Amino acid sequence: MKEEIANIQTEALSAIAAAAGEQELEEVRIAFLGKKGRLTVASAGMKDLSKDDKPVIGQLLNTTRYAITEALDTKGGILQDDADAASVEGIDLSLPALPLHPGNLHPLTLVKDRAITILRQLGFSLAEGPEIETEFHCFDALNTPAEHPARNEKDTFYFDSGKLLRTHTSTVQVRTMENQAPPVRVIAPGSCYRRDEVDKTHLPAFNQLEGLYVDSDVQVGDLKGALEFFYRAMFGEETKVRFRPHFFPFTEPSFEIDALLKLKGEEPKWIEVAGCGMVDPAVFDEICKARGDDFYDPDKVTGYAFGMGLDRLAMIQWGIKDIRLLIENDARFLSQFA
Ligand code: DAH
Repeated sequence: MKEEIANIQTEALSAIAAAAGEQELEEVRIAFLGKKGRLTVASAGMKDLSKDDKPVIGQLLNTTRYAITEALDTKGGILQDDADAASVEGIDLSLPALPLHPGNLHPLTLVKDRAITILRQLGFSLAEGPEIETEFHCFDALNTPAEHPARNEKDTFYFDSGKLLRTHTSTVQVRTMENQAPPVRVIAPGSCYRRDEVDKTHLPAFNQLEGLYVDSDVQVGDLKGALEFFYRAMFGEETKVRFRPHFFPFTEPSFEIDALLKLKGEEPKWIEVAGCGMVDPAVFDEICKARGDDFYDPDKVTGYAFGMGLDRLAMIQWGIKDIRLLIENDARFLSQFA
């Protein structure tokens, strides 16, 4: 039996050496080590051996199985290396890779982050609210009369439930005051929606940044100081800012803010950059009713609010002439902001 086992080993090793591919090698493995393989069959003969022979032959069978297995593994590795080498033949692996553009932040994200950083210096923290809103949060609580055109179905996206897509971030003023006692000093960047025709300066989905500061003695001077600081930090120390009287239902007095800006290749001109004003006492009254307390009693608190378009801010910042570029995801446009 010893001889038979020695023969099996010799034959197995030469068959392994001769195997020209992985498939062939697998066939060799099955022929010798498989269930009906020659070594397996030989092992079955153990049962007929004498007590003295059993351990000797058993040992021999083990070392043989081990030797064949090792030879199979080694040959398998060599065949694998050969296959790998063949698959990259003719390819110059030392050539440098093509440059990979790692991507960059969207211009809107860049202005938004910048605005947040500046306003944080003034003590504002971030607040948020839902984009699907109630008419109460979007209009009623903000002192917007029932017949105001902004409420019109021609201007606002309504759901069958009566809810709507918020038309401005001013909703977050209401949400914040409902949930938090004064003083509050918050900013809320976010998306807004209006039924606008798409053109160079309008998209039905756009972005605003709202600000609200309420405390026991907030004055118009605080509003002007804060927003002048903001626009100078945003557009440069020399930037001139003016406050033009205007009307918003939720502020009194109200202003539009213009900044004197020089866009690329143009003469400096006044550009409207935000709406703002002192929170209308009627808004505080609504908040008191909603909260069921008098923390926002207009005799106790005053406040200012402002709202600016972030898309517009980005367009001014980089002289972008068409708002649609901000949503088209054209890499040639976006990669300029890397
Ligand atoms: N919500 C206004 C709009 O979308 C912008 C605005 C104006 C916000 C005056 C304010 C404000 O907070 O005080 O047109």
